[in-house]
Amino acid sequence: MKSANIAPQLMVALDVPSREETLALARTLAGTAPWCKVGMEMFTHAGPPLLEELAALGYSIFLDLKFYDIPHTVAQAVKAASGVGVNMLTLHCQGGERMCRAAREAVCSLPGKGPLLFGVTVLTSFARGEMPGISADLPDFARTLATNAQSWGLDGVVCSGHEAADIKAACPSLMCLCPGIRPAGSVADDQRRVMTPAQAVAAGADYLVVGRPIIAAPDPLMAAKQILAEMASAT
Ligand code: C5P
Repeated sequence: MKSANIAPQLMVALDVPSREETLALARTLAGTAPWCKVGMEMFTHAGPPLLEELAALGYSIFLDLKFYDIPHTVAQAVKAASGVGVNMLTLHCQGGERMCRAAREAVCSLPGKGPLLFGVTVLTSFARGEMPGISADLPDFARTLATNAQSWGLDGVVCSGHEAADIKAACPSLMCLCPGIRPAGSVADDQRRVMTPAQAVAAGADYLVVGRPIIAAPDPLMAAKQILAEMASAT
């Protein structure tokens, strides 16, 4: 596992409907956001060749497909992701110990560095009572999953900024990647547990994933720069 002591980094979620729009946006933001996040929509459209083009623009690649399957399948998918240049990927903590450990073993079996493994705890779109079968408070449930993730060898977890401080205190070696970031005054969209960039950094987030506040802004580059400035002011 990696140390949790990194300067917080911005990841732009390239959630746009076509490969062409993805690349246009990526070119606009190249050199500003160090990471880009490719999710299931765009990866399904455009696949590994898109990742190569994004890497050529200088991005580190975060593949957010949230793997959840039997251990062997996830291990093979982790190896495949590494083979197409992915630097970080997600899997569900609820996939359990054998699945998460299989992913870690897959990374360890690879030559070179391999992708960072981040476990999804509780999606930031869930409000209390909405997560099927879970009656626990969401922050408690997220911390429990993070504690598991730490002992199963993951590098970090995906969590709401509201849970980051608690998780960092309980799991000091884990990094926290926080979506649900909304600059002050912007709309929450479908997110439920949101924080401003400064609040998330102050709470201990290592990576901030931002989609619509950047990609739907009239000037995405300006929006990204404002978020980076806010992150720097909170560091
Ligand atoms: O547009 P917005 O900033 O809400 O985008 C957040 C991004 O982070 C989306 O791509 C979404 O799929 C992703 N994400 C999330 N909550 C998680 C994990 C990933 O919102 N728990």
